[in-house]
Amino acid sequence: KDLFISAFFAFSRGYYKMSAMSRAANRKLEARNPQLVGILLAWFAKNARDLPWRRTRDPYAIWVSEIMLQQTQVKTVIPYWERWMSELPTIESLANANPERIHKLWEGLGYYTRVRNMQKAAQEICRGRREESQINSAQAGETKSNACQFPDTFDEVLALPGIGRYTAGAICSIAFNQLTPILDGNVIRVLTRVFGISENPRDKNANARLWSLAEELVTHASRNTKHASPCSHFNQSMMELGALICTPREPKCAVCPITEHCFAFQNNRVNEFPNLEKRPVATARRFAAFVMENRGSFLVRQRPAGVVNAHLWEFPNIELNGEPQDASAAAKKLFVFIPKEVRSLCTIKHSITRYRITVEAFCIGAPPGFKVGQSCRSAPSSRHARSARDESQWLALSELHKLSFPSAHKKILKAIDTKT
Ligand code: ADE
Repeated sequence: KDLFISAFFAFSRGYYKMSAMSRAANRKLEARNPQLVGILLAWFAKNARDLPWRRTRDPYAIWVSEIMLQQTQVKTVIPYWERWMSELPTIESLANANPERIHKLWEGLGYYTRVRNMQKAAQEICRGRREESQINSAQAGETKSNACQFPDTFDEVLALPGIGRYTAGAICSIAFNQLTPILDGNVIRVLTRVFGISENPRDKNANARLWSLAEELVTHASRNTKHASPCSHFNQSMMELGALICTPREPKCAVCPITEHCFAFQNNRVNEFPNLEKRPVATARRFAAFVMENRGSFLVRQRPAGVVNAHLWEFPNIELNGEPQDASAAAKKLFVFIPKEVRSLCTIKHSITRYRITVEAFCIGAPPGFKVGQSCRSAPSSRHARSARDESQWLALSELHKLSFPSAHKKILKAIDTKT
């Protein structure tokens, strides 16, 4: 019995010692996150770039910037954002804009579903709000409407087309200083390094842990009384640190404000985080595109719905990788007539997500007896395309400049400009 009693005391002493130790460790960890947040808020106040969308709290303007910034660098986005905001300054103007116009404003940014989703969302906001405000004003006996106001709750923002958890969190925190976490590529890099998260951040559990860390940190920020808009500024401080200091290659740890709190830096393992799988090697694809002029007009066609670069315009083109192999054979396959001569115009190379694309552009001549009604055999198609109808048109150069082209075809248009 004595043995049992002394064993019990020995165990409980050990247990108490252990829990005292872990309480101390917990206290240290608990102190770390508010400190980290305080340092980042102070760093952002001094080091934030003066970006045009940071001079406004208009949720519409912030939404536009966030959608443009997906997949696109800040320096590319700035002129697009400025042009967009001066041409379509309100949600209502976007909802009512001609689709050709919004594609033109997006021309060169790529991933054009983004811009179509934005217009759909703007139309939903205006339609929904109009109906709501009509009901409210009818009940209140008013005639004034507050149509087209951007929603201000996370769930309503998240429900809009093209807006996911990151974008809804970014809009609600930046525009309304709401306590909403954000997690994008920059934030993932910062958090995996600081907290030493070695799992692949795309794995379900690791991703959930990252979101909950981001939430915990922005919660600490929300309690900060020294800074105005602490949730907004804290979320932006993580994006900014990831963009300027905690970069994918050669991070600038020497000037990083949080190395003291960074697991990866303290353990000399910065290059091990984040643990992302290697990107698959890009596939090479070759296309032949044809510039055909007839009495000052050029043959172009509009890509159908449901294919890559849907609704944009292009010069007739065909992929060369399998059959056919050369430009003349390709032209024969593409057109209902046999072109008279095939002369090289330019070669464009560009890379998109999974492909290294080469487009060889050729000028072609009309055969004797050519009639303008004759053109391509079929439009570009895919399983998802709604129609493979030939949408070819003959248009003057000045008209071509009003249309939206994918980047490679825009470069072909430039090559025509310099030749004519
Ligand atoms: N990347 C994504 N959102 C951003 C923002 N608001 N400012 C700078 N870079 C960003």
